[in-house]
Amino acid sequence: MSPPFTTSVGKPILVFGGTGHYGRNIVRSLLESGVRVRVLSRNAPRARSVLGNEPEVIEGDITSRPTVISALDQTRAIIIAVSAFTWKTIRRRTEIERDSVLWILKEADRRGIVRVVCLSGYDVRKDFAEKLGVLAMARPMLDVQAALAESRLNWTVLGCPPSMEIFFAMIRGARMIVPGGGPPALPSISPVDVGTIAAQAVLRDDLGGQRIRLPGPEALSFPEAARRISAVWGREIHFHRIPVTPLKIASVLTRPFNPFLVHLVMAIRMLNNFPGEFAAEVPRDHQLLREAFDFTPTSLEVEARRRMGEVQ
Ligand SMILES: NC(=O)c1ccc[n+]([C@@H]2O[C@H](COP(=O)([O-])OP(=O)(O)OC[C@H]3O[C@@H](n4cnc5c(N)ncnc54)[C@H](OP(=O)(O)O)[C@@H]3O)[C@@H](O)[C@H]2O)c1
Repeated sequence: MSPPFTTSVGKPILVFGGTGHYGRNIVRSLLESGVRVRVLSRNAPRARSVLGNEPEVIEGDITSRPTVISALDQTRAIIIAVSAFTWKTIRRRTEIERDSVLWILKEADRRGIVRVVCLSGYDVRKDFAEKLGVLAMARPMLDVQAALAESRLNWTVLGCPPSMEIFFAMIRGARMIVPGGGPPALPSISPVDVGTIAAQAVLRDDLGGQRIRLPGPEALSFPEAARRISAVWGREIHFHRIPVTPLKIASVLTRPFNPFLVHLVMAIRMLNNFPGEFAAEVPRDHQLLREAFDFTPTSLEVEARRRMGEVQ
């Protein structure tokens, strides 16, 4: 592992999406490693309540060129962790996740900002997305990847699996309710580990041109995750598979007003058809990750204890 590059110490690392599920952990890890951090957020007071007062917060929208220009000023390197996967912003997804990011990459290159780390889906492939009928969902990531590959930037794409949060988010009382039931085995990762890895990655200059998968220690099915969480929490969580059809119907009905449910159905389809070969490769990919980065991987059990307040 090469040491952090030192040519521009003192200049901040700019994090787009620094208040998000993965982004806030990236910001925390960067601050812990002693570097200056700048975050672009649409809501500065909310960003400060999430991140504290240490990072510099620039208020504005990633689609606003003047705001992004001021955020890029004197920046040392960039992490992109934005997502528009919400009811409110889904209509602007292409503008936020694709067009703005492509423009940022060009502008970074023009300003001599070389190092860029981009969070993305676990393994984004056109043929697979086409086969599943989710190409519209994968398109922004495919276009950003293609632009990075053609650029002169020192880029790294971190292929994130679903956060371990996915297992906990499905729990309602004593039930883990999963539309479609999930795949036989799903890679996942703790958001804390994404933060640690992304923070280390952006401070290195030897990972250029690489796409790295970020699986946690093991691929788990939802029923297995329910069993493991039950054991830690000391109360039974019962797995329940529910059909996706009602959600599909709702997505068709709401589509004229808002395409969020259409995208949600696509995400669920991807989840339920998660390729078995990716899950089979988790032990190898996880080992590679441990060799490349300095971190102690979080297991589902540790993540479950963290939610009980037993682990920081
Ligand atoms: N979460 C997962 O399980 C998962 C799985 C695989 C891949 N990923 C990838 O990881 C990345 C981050 O996802 P996430 O789940 O952590 O995101 P998230 O929690 O939904 O957070 C979204 C972030 O994007 C920012 N953002 C959204 N619209 C913006 C806009 N118009 N202008 C400026 N900032 C904007 C938000 O900032 P403000 O609200 O402060 O403006 C927020 O920090 C994405 O590339 C996603 O595809 C996530």
